[in-house]
Amino acid sequence: MDSFEWNKIIGAVLGTVIFIFVVRIVAEHIYEAETPEKPGYVVEGVVEASAGASTAPVEEVMPDWGTVLPAADVAAGQTVAVKCQQCHDFTKGGPNKIGPELFAVVDRARAANATFAYSAAMKGKPGNWTYDELFKFIKAPGVDIPGTKMSFAGLRSEKDRINLIAYLRSNADAPAAIPAPKPAAAAAEKPADSAAAASAAAGATISPKSGAPMPEAPKPH
Ligand code: HEC
Repeated sequence: MDSFEWNKIIGAVLGTVIFIFVVRIVAEHIYEAETPEKPGYVVEGVVEASAGASTAPVEEVMPDWGTVLPAADVAAGQTVAVKCQQCHDFTKGGPNKIGPELFAVVDRARAANATFAYSAAMKGKPGNWTYDELFKFIKAPGVDIPGTKMSFAGLRSEKDRINLIAYLRSNADAPAAIPAPKPAAAAAEKPADSAAAASAAAGATISPKSGAPMPEAPKPH
């Protein structure tokens, strides 16, 4: 092999090294820019802040049940309830599955099914399954009742939850009463659901710092 051959080999090796280097820089930039939509951990007492909008309400505004329930789509809610059926039976006197039977659950006392082994967390929280309580729990069970053994991520969509609750209400011998609508509050009924969209603003700018110059191959003698 003459020195010209060696030059080509060294050039190829250096070229490869530089290529790997540049790919790494670019990859680091991409990873830096990628912030997870939700943190993989939940710290008790810390409320998830929506990036940018510090004025956004911390607590989700509860729907005005007197307004939304009569307008809700019960059939659509029954379709949503299919997601619950791997763990819950909705028929009267139905069996417990992974979770307790949920016939006539609206306004039922929490952890009231004597034949089901509830978690300490669920038993430890008093009160009834009101519309508000169901609305909060179904959104994020583990956040609403930390320690619950209902391992279900939750339904983010407000519409889905309202329709589902309308279905749960209808699934009873004597459906729970619907409160009178609150005309004054109806105007302020914009949920904070859309807040997350703003956080996806800062895009990844890929700039591999400088185009590292190819080292000059030694001149053939
Ligand atoms: C992966 C299984 C699973 C899924 C899916 C699931 N649940 Fe549950 N659910 C449970 C378990 C387990 C419990 C008992 C929780 C505890 O004791 O902490 C429970 C408890 C509940 C309770 C409290 C019942 C009571 O008697 O106090 C309600 C209400 C409830 N689930 C509603 C729903 C709804 C509505 C859905 C669908 C959107 C759903 N669950 C989906 C497993 C599930």
